[in-house]
Amino acid sequence: MSILIKNGRIITATDDYTADIFVEGETISTIGNNLKMEADTVIDASGKLVIPGGIDPHVHLEMPFMGAFSSDNYETGTLAALHGGTTTVIDFVIQSQGKSLYQALREWQGRANGNVFCDYAFHIAVTDFNPQTQLEIKDLIEQEGISSFKTFMAYKGALMIDDRQMVGLMNEVKKHGGMVTVHATNGDIIDYLVAKNKAAGNLTPLYHYLSQPEITETEATGRFIDMAFQTDSNAYIVHVTCEGALNKVREANKRNQKIFAETCIQYLVLDASVYERGFESAKWVMSPPIREKKDQKALWAAINQGIVQTLATDHCPFMWDDKLKGKDDFTKIPNGAPGIEHRMELIFSEGVNKGKISLNKMVDITAASSAKIFGMFPKKGTIAVGSDADIVIFNPDTKHTLSATTHHHHCDYSAYEGHEVTGKAETVVLRGSVAIDKGSVKIQKGYGEFIKRSKLTNII
Ligand code: URP
Ligand code: ZN
Ligand code: ZN
Repeated sequence: MSILIKNGRIITATDDYTADIFVEGETISTIGNNLKMEADTVIDASGKLVIPGGIDPHVHLEMPFMGAFSSDNYETGTLAALHGGTTTVIDFVIQSQGKSLYQALREWQGRANGNVFCDYAFHIAVTDFNPQTQLEIKDLIEQEGISSFKTFMAYKGALMIDDRQMVGLMNEVKKHGGMVTVHATNGDIIDYLVAKNKAAGNLTPLYHYLSQPEITETEATGRFIDMAFQTDSNAYIVHVTCEGALNKVREANKRNQKIFAETCIQYLVLDASVYERGFESAKWVMSPPIREKKDQKALWAAINQGIVQTLATDHCPFMWDDKLKGKDDFTKIPNGAPGIEHRMELIFSEGVNKGKISLNKMVDITAASSAKIFGMFPKKGTIAVGSDADIVIFNPDTKHTLSATTHHHHCDYSAYEGHEVTGKAETVVLRGSVAIDKGSVKIQKGYGEFIKRSKLTNII
């Protein structure tokens, strides 16, 4: 099969030019002006942006968490991703404490295999680092192509590891060419504040927000960075939300560390006023919580300064019935919100259209940097001869309104209900096949491939 994409404005993390793209099989074979090849499909991209398929480096599909499963499974979640122009997602396999990493991997593979629409990879969350777990790291990197390991500094008793485990893991992962990533918030301070609020009868979703103040993220981010310094490791911080944490990354840069930071679209476009809506605020109960306007300003600046390299969603939707479990106690509200479909259009609409970031920066944070940091570049994350033909033809003028009535998430509410955006993924090509065309799905479930990633020793 072949596709000829004509006259599009091609944007990569570094380039911006008009040309034609010829796709043969799964990869891009030629880029040039006035290409005359015969093709099975010809797409006129005049007036459109032609950008690399998005990579969302942080999603939770069908994840067992806080007494429920995140409501998008591999089928619905990856289809929603494609509708929004994201062609690769990195999901988290989560070890159960007391069990092995491979047991968790097999469980996650069992849910994903044959059900995935877009391409995908796994990080593995290590929740119990011990002499047995230690032995599994090498094979996971070298045999399975899973080179990044997530850790939690919060959610004590379920996911959290202590600092001794953290440095042990960092040393082992580094030895085999992988990288440790972290949910950096101080679990003990949060647990203390949660208990204090509960004792005082403060049980509404607002107290989820008030139990995780900025300092809990700032402190843990700094401590994690110090552990990376001590072990001489590169490291990555997921869902950075606030000015204090960003300043810790700045300090790390000053002492010549290589610390990567991710933020998520919700932290750029929503502010803490979402917690002033009574129990409706449960829609935005996530960890860390949505922050202040001053943090949004700091995040946009950090993107432009290269302090934040990647943009994710932390997509982790729960049905409203599951959120209702916390009607009388915010600690029972499953943490997480939907967003996998909206990342690309929101960053274009709120970032590029409003003059906050350039188009090149948009491609960098939505695709190129994740591919580089997580060992998938140049197969993914760019438009170049030999790269996978993961291409989005993006209409910069399409206006639409985000809503649970039109989104493709399997979730009965939207975190962005009524939000008006300009720009939309119109045609999405995944490995040389048109996957989505003007809202119609053109591929079958199971088309998505697992991406084995390389070691992360010589990344950007
Ligand atoms: O609230 C969130 N973010 N839920 C998903 C798990 C995590 O902490 O990333
Ligand atoms: Zn997290
Ligand atoms: Zn997460």
